[in-house]
This record gives sequence, C-alpha cells and structure tokens, in this order.
Amino acid sequence: GDAVFEVYQLPEEHAAVREAVRAVCDGKVAPNAAAADETGEFPQASYDALRAADFHAPHIPEEYGGAGADALATAIVIEEVARACASSSLIPAVNKLGTMPLLLSASPELKQHYLPSVAAGDAMFSYCLSEPDAGSDAAGMKTRAVLDGDTWVLNGVKRWITNAGVSEYYTVFAVTDPAARSRGISAFVVEKSDEGVSFGAPERKLGIKGSPTREVYLDNVRIPADRIIGAPGTGFATAMQTLDHTRVTIAAQALGIAQGALDFALGYVQERKQFGKPIADFQGIQFMLADMGMKLEAARQLTYAAAAKSERGDKDLTYFGAAAKCFASDAAMQITTDAVQLLGGYGYTKDFPLERMMRDAKITQIYEGTNQVQRIVMARQLLNG
Ligand code: CAA
Repeated sequence: GDAVFEVYQLPEEHAAVREAVRAVCDGKVAPNAAAADETGEFPQASYDALRAADFHAPHIPEEYGGAGADALATAIVIEEVARACASSSLIPAVNKLGTMPLLLSASPELKQHYLPSVAAGDAMFSYCLSEPDAGSDAAGMKTRAVLDGDTWVLNGVKRWITNAGVSEYYTVFAVTDPAARSRGISAFVVEKSDEGVSFGAPERKLGIKGSPTREVYLDNVRIPADRIIGAPGTGFATAMQTLDHTRVTIAAQALGIAQGALDFALGYVQERKQFGKPIADFQGIQFMLADMGMKLEAARQLTYAAAAKSERGDKDLTYFGAAAKCFASDAAMQITTDAVQLLGGYGYTKDFPLERMMRDAKITQIYEGTNQVQRIVMARQLLNG
C-alpha cells in the first residue's frame, strides 16, 4: 500500500526543510565560500545567516530551546549547506558531534546547563577524541583525568579538533583508569574559558579551510566533578555511539559537496561549445554525467536509510552509519574529480569552484574514522552481528 511507497519518498516537511536551507545558502552562504577557502577565515557571515534561520544546530531537541530536527532533517540541512560551502556545513555537523555525547549519556542537569546556549547560537560545541598518537586507534589515547576531591584534573593534547578556538564548549575524552583500556575512558565537558585550556596554530589543510582545525592543550585543567558525561569508564562507548550517529552527517556533507559539483558541471557542459556544439551533446560527456548522477543517488538513498536508523536508534546503525559515510565520501571524491575533468583546464583553476569542491571532498574519506576504519567496523558487524 501507500505506506510502503512513502519510504522511498522524502516526507513533505523534509522537502520543505531542503527548500528553506537551499534558499538561505544560495543567498547568504554560497557567496562567502570562495573567500573562506582563500583566506582560511571562519565564515562568520555564513554562521550568522544559519543562526538567523535556526540551521546552525538544528538537531537540538525543543526541550532545550532547539529546532528539534530529526536525524533526516539534520542530514538534509548539512547536505544543503555543504552544497554551498563545505566549511560552513561543519557548523551544524560539529555542533551535533560535540553535543551528541551529552544527548546520549549526560545527566539532565548537564544537558540543561549546556544545550540551550548551543540551540540559541551563542556557543558552539567541539568533539575532542583524537590525539597526536591516537587517531584510528582512539582507545590508545593518553590524555588523563584524575579525580582530586570534587574536581577532575585534565592533562593532555587533543589533535584535529574541528572548530577549535571558535567553539565555547568541548566534549573531551580522557583516561580515568589506565589499566582498563577502552573501559577506562570517560567523557567530560571542558569550556574554552577554563584555566589551562589553550589552542595550537591552525592546521594548514588541503580543504575545508574556512573551518579551523587546531590542537587543544589541557594543562592541569580543573573542572567540577559533575562535568563528567555519564559514569566513569563509559566514555569510549559514548564516543563510538556518537560516531554511529554522526557518520551519517558526514555522509550528508559528502552528498552536498558532490551535488554542488554535479550541478555546476551540468550547467557548464550545456554552455561550453567545442567542435561546433555544446559538449553535453557528446556521448562521452553524457556517460560521465550519468555515472556521477547514479553514484550520487545511490549514496543519498543509503545515507537517508542510515538517517532513519539514527533517528530510531536501530541496532544496525553502527553498520549503516559506517556504510553510508564510506560510500558517500568515496562517491563524492569520484564525482568532484570527474566534475573537474568536465571543465578541463577551467576546472583546475580557482576561477571556478570545482577544484575547491574536490579538495573539500577529500576530508570526508578521512575524518570521523578513515574509510579503512569504516570497513573494519562493517566487517566486524557482518561477522559478529
Ligand atoms: N557502540 C557502542 N559501543 C561500542 C561501539 C559502538 N559503535 N563500538 C565499540 N564499542 C565498545 C565495544 O563494545 C567494546 O566494549 P566492551 O569492552 O565493553 O566489550 C569497546 O567499545 C571497545 O571496542 P573495540 O574492541 O571494537 O575497540 P577498538 O579499540 O578495536 O576500536 C575502532 C574500534 C572501530 C577501530 C575505533 O577505535 C574507531 O572507530 N576508530 C576511529 C576513530 C574515529 O572515528 N575518530 C574520529 C575522530 S572525530 C573527528 O574526526 C571529528 C572531526 O573533527 C570532524
């Protein structure tokens, strides 16, 4: 009946979200994308536009003053922002990443204390898992948290922290029981203004240059005992559960980058004339376009299926989150690379946005777990259920 077929069609309210985000992004985000890339400066004007429309952290539930967007609507917001500017799409994406540990595991008091200011757009939230010597092996982290009376004392270095410095709040994972390895890791909220918190120089990256990536240094940072997220020792599981949900948002980001590249290339091939006709008339070009569109749509369907699982908290989200992130990011890399090819020499220059999109796409195969880690996650799920 109809209910079965609704599965394959975006609900009306989600289609409306896409239209609304696209309008804001066409008007107020896309125009800043090239400058953010060239200067490496945080696109404050894009943040302000997203905030004014309530797209900066749409996933925050209404009880904390948020827009209460479900996982699919949040993915659509991130996708549409990424279509205009990948750097800016890390605003809603990393706000979700940073706050997801609280939403999953924090006390009601901690959630009530921190989430409303993120919902209001007064603060952003970053996620501090990786370290210089603990990337794919996240449980190999060295950052320590030691309880001293009624304060935790944190020491260590976190690396590759998206939006570090511009975020007010940080979810920090630290070892509380070194003998227990992954069961001896705990999660905490650290504030930028806490004494002993400082930041490294911005990394000089290939892409997403408008989103600052810096180290976070924790030097005898003393925080109240109640800033722990969940019980001691549950931090690693919280970190992994968070990534199960947010790998879907990286998949959405990859979709958006790829769609932006395909849309631009489609316009170009119909304008560009060689051998006396638009290059779109050549079958060699048409076959490339068809492959790009087909890969993008396959990635989109998998990503939206994963978003539905994220919303329901399905048991197989671990598998679907990894699969969507891996497939969509590989597709985005292929599609943006082909889009550069369709523009030939023009695609290779900064006079056109495609080389930026290709550089921006690359990170989606790397962060929130490399695509090799995603394959490990998928294989373990296949083999062990
Ligand atoms: N949900 C709940 N619990 C989970 C889980 C999940 N998805 N995955 C693992 N766990 C639990 C396991 O059940 C296990 O618990 P028990 O000890 O109680 O049995 C524990 O965690 C350890 O699990 P593993 O033995 O599987 O752990 P591992 O050390 O082999 O690591 C890994 C597994 C998949 C490789 C993991 O380390 C990983 O995902 N690595 C990649 C890290 C990553 O994605 N980093 C991204 C950083 S964030 C970022 O990039 C942000 C940005 O700036 C945008």
